[in-house]
Amino acid sequence: MQYSPLVRRISGEGTDAWVVHYAARAALERGEDVILLSVGDPDLDTPAPALERAIESLRAGDTHYTPVMGRQHLREAIAATHRARTGQAVDVSNVIFLAGAQNALFVTSMCIAAHGDEVIALEPLYPSYPATLEVSGARMVRVPSPAALGFRVDLNALEAAITPRTRALFFATPNNPSGVILSTADLAVIGDLARRHSLWVVADEVYAGLAPAGRVPSLAAELPEQVVTICSLSKSHSMPGWRAGWLVGPPQLVVYAEAMAQCMLFGLPGFIQEAAATALSVSEAAESRVREYCAVRRDFLLAGLASIRGIHCLVPDAGMFLLLDVRGTGLSGYDFMCELYRTERVSVLDGGAFGDETRGFVRVCFATDEKLLTLAIVRIRRFVDSLVR
Ligand SMILES: Cc1ncc(COP(=O)(O)O)c(C=O)c1O
Repeated sequence: MQYSPLVRRISGEGTDAWVVHYAARAALERGEDVILLSVGDPDLDTPAPALERAIESLRAGDTHYTPVMGRQHLREAIAATHRARTGQAVDVSNVIFLAGAQNALFVTSMCIAAHGDEVIALEPLYPSYPATLEVSGARMVRVPSPAALGFRVDLNALEAAITPRTRALFFATPNNPSGVILSTADLAVIGDLARRHSLWVVADEVYAGLAPAGRVPSLAAELPEQVVTICSLSKSHSMPGWRAGWLVGPPQLVVYAEAMAQCMLFGLPGFIQEAAATALSVSEAAESRVREYCAVRRDFLLAGLASIRGIHCLVPDAGMFLLLDVRGTGLSGYDFMCELYRTERVSVLDGGAFGDETRGFVRVCFATDEKLLTLAIVRIRRFVDSLVR
């Protein structure tokens, strides 16, 4: 039987990088001694008021169909959050609630690009981007942010990558895995390029709640007709399993996104929407809890790894990851990941999953228990010492 060419566009790439992670997760489930630092799932519970609201709503029978765009009061809460964060004057017509930022990226990609188009993505990039951006039929063009520049955007390379076929620019700020936040100056240049070439700017801000004061510089207020902001509760509120995210963009995009969500989702669970609205009503406390949690553990891990000869940590602007430069050990990020797991049962992620410039790096998630981090530091030190010796 035949399959659509689409299935090729969404499979394959990046899967090697997860080999160790999946093995580690399975070992952990079997009760083995494994330290899992390979995924960005904060080791914190859902904020209690959001959890209680979901339970209450389920008990009250909130198990029926819901509006495809999301409930009005939730979209109002999202619009208010976005206004406060970016200064862009938006209302519910700019907002659609979707099943996480991943789903919002997919919907955006499908609605703004097609066969024959190019979409630029700034590297390092989240490993789901190639499939998510090329599912539309467009070709993804990678613009690396050089390791030598601390993974800051290379604006000359970005400008050089734009062709008459370019439709959109996708980036995550703060970045996963580098933690780099695009500066106001960088965004001014990006905004100018977007204006001159009529490009969509898709800003993936899932980690924005973890940036200082929960904010990152944004072009949304300046270019309301061209900017799509993607966000979710996964990281900022430690609610990844709820699949609660959204996009904020021009009303016409939201109309098309609704049609796509109608085909794909036909409305999301009401009790999740109630929990999401409650989570947004306690954002200040919820976000500062995750931010502080991450900041303390980031400093703890940085201090623990600093004195290990042969590796070097990049200090992230924000987020829950740090990149470890392992080039001094003579191993690639991939081999470091495999060997560290084989010998010490610590699972980290090969930087190569995020692009070529991160090949000599591994990504370490620090949003976990301090006792585990202490143990991980001991094991990483022992492993690196054995290599360097
Ligand atoms: C940069 C980036 N974008 C999007 C996502 C997906 O987030 P969500 O859980 O909201 O789908 C992630 C998750 O790790 C991410 O790192």
